[in-house]
Amino acid sequence: MTDSIIRSVADLREIVAGWRQEGKRVGLVPTMGAIHAGHLSLVSIAAKNCDKVIASVFVNPTQFGENEDLDAYPVDEAKDVRNLTDAGTDLVFCPGKEEIYPNGFSTVISVSGLTAGLCGPFRPGHFDGVATVVSKLLLQCLPDIAVFGEKDYQQLLVIRQLVSDLNIPVEIVGAPIIREDDGLAMSSRNRYLSPDERRVAPEFNRVLTDVAALIKAKPDECQNICRNAREELLELGFASVDYVSVCDIETLELLKTYRHPARVFGAAYLGASRLIDNLPVD
Ligand code: PAJ
Repeated sequence: MTDSIIRSVADLREIVAGWRQEGKRVGLVPTMGAIHAGHLSLVSIAAKNCDKVIASVFVNPTQFGENEDLDAYPVDEAKDVRNLTDAGTDLVFCPGKEEIYPNGFSTVISVSGLTAGLCGPFRPGHFDGVATVVSKLLLQCLPDIAVFGEKDYQQLLVIRQLVSDLNIPVEIVGAPIIREDDGLAMSSRNRYLSPDERRVAPEFNRVLTDVAALIKAKPDECQNICRNAREELLELGFASVDYVSVCDIETLELLKTYRHPARVFGAAYLGASRLIDNLPVD
């Protein structure tokens, strides 16, 4: 099992170069560990499209804000590696912090525009941290494809943008959101929900689903419908709501009047846990 773990960029490059010489197609699935079925669905998409699958496990400190949960982020490397390899991952890249951010590291990749709304203003610096680490992982691995979940839809678009802007030769594949049976989007952070919070959590997806149905019926009422949804979430016991918004699926422009194609996006705190979710209006 440990044969499938590597920790250095040099080893990663050597193995991938060998695969390329054999004409193998390579897929990358970047993660921060705490592996669940959502992550594993990305691995199976990569495995269907590629001969070799690499997953990275790196809890990236630069994408966490000062008051966020970096120190509490769940780490169980052995379990993660087992789950990833059982699901068809050939190699797990688990770099230490020094391997990714050696002393003197000074570069930041910052994507503007797409990061102006939704989670951007609520998590200053977050998307710079994501863009920087994902750029590094893509350049370290140089896969044919890299798979990212629509669960973090804004992140997916930010990554597509940086890959296009920086001419990184990789195809970015988006993957559908995997949910619990009750509709809650799977997330590494769901394990922090208390039993009471866990009971309320599926209401988040239900409220966003209602927003999608309501704006289709009343396209001019986006703002009112989203405002009512925020109030409903607070009444249901959510501690605070960062946003409930309807946005264009490509530009993330905030829509006051619904037009196709759009998605409903939400971010809200249940206790200390921040939930995000999104779904297509159609
Ligand atoms: P992490 O939260 O571990 O998620 C890794 C990948 O799994 C992301 O592409 C995310 O969108 C996807 N994912 C998470 N939950 C999912 C679900 N329920 N259904 C489908 N896909 C899901 O996102 C990150 O890590 C980091 O920001 C990272 C891209 C690794 C950069 O550090």
